Amino acid sequence: MVVSTGSATGRYAQPDRRPAVVTGASSGIGAATALSLAAAGHPVALGARRVNRCEEVAARIREGGGEATVHPLDLTESESVEAFAKAVVADLGDVEVVVSNAGAVAPGTLHEVESERFAREIDLNLIGAHRLVRAFVPGMVERRRGDVVFVSSDVAVRARPFMSSYAAGKWGLEGMANAMQMELEGTGVRASIVRPGPTWSEMGSDWDVDEATTVLNAWVRFGLARHPHFLKTSAIANAIVTVVTAPRGVHLNLVEVSPEAPVED
Ligand SMILES: NC(=O)c1ccc[n+]([C@@H]2O[C@H](COP(=O)([O-])OP(=O)(O)OC[C@H]3O[C@@H](n4cnc5c(N)ncnc54)[C@H](OP(=O)(O)O)[C@@H]3O)[C@@H](O)[C@H]2O)c1
Repeated sequence: MVVSTGSATGRYAQPDRRPAVVTGASSGIGAATALSLAAAGHPVALGARRVNRCEEVAARIREGGGEATVHPLDLTESESVEAFAKAVVADLGDVEVVVSNAGAVAPGTLHEVESERFAREIDLNLIGAHRLVRAFVPGMVERRRGDVVFVSSDVAVRARPFMSSYAAGKWGLEGMANAMQMELEGTGVRASIVRPGPTWSEMGSDWDVDEATTVLNAWVRFGLARHPHFLKTSAIANAIVTVVTAPRGVHLNLVEVSPEAPVED
């Protein structure tokens, strides 16, 4: 069977200039993704609450000859997302690529966690992604092209103890993305999931050491930490760039990235 990869011309034509938005670009996977997208030629809009950290990443992009803009973004506030989207389009023009990356996890035992805290995590990890979709995807559908990438987590398919609201949010995120993929079929807009395994970033750096030890020991106990290797953020950034630079006619629906086990002697 011959599988067509589509064409770079005609109805699959891509504009040369593909402005990209990255949320949670102030650290970790988001910062690495902004740098990689810029290196691949995308003008990049960086959003997060720590604007100064985004500015540092943007400065590196500009030093390398790329184009970057920074605006404050709090995904838990609809007004903030709408103001961010307006400012980005004013700076870079119509957005072609949206990377929904921002997320957070706090450890806790489900029956002890306050429901308000549980809801706050879902509000960022799931509803925040929906706020982003509302702000950018209608325009993409109208223009009949675009890429949306949801950064999920392996907890979406293999839940880990003491992070139940995070697991619930990522399960929800993948369910939302799967439904969206069907709704967008034939619109020229591709929605994709990139699902990282354990990755070195700032995630968990604010955890109490005893809590972190409890969580890691539980991972081992339930067979969820088969080896101690973590991914570099650049590995996830590369996967995201691969997804959004796939030729038209190809849709990378889901890319799961896991740390390779150390090679045994
Ligand atoms: N690290 C891992 O092992 C791992 C594994 C699987 C999946 N992931 C996923 O990867 C994504 C990136 O996480 P990371 O590992 O790179 O962690 P990180 O270094 O802690 O980055 C998280 C980012 O989210 C942003 N953020 C948090 N709350 C926000 C809000 N209310 N509004 C806007 N931005 C907000 C943070 O920026 P500000 O604080 O400046 O707002 C930060 O830039 C997350 O979706 C996470 O679930 C990570």
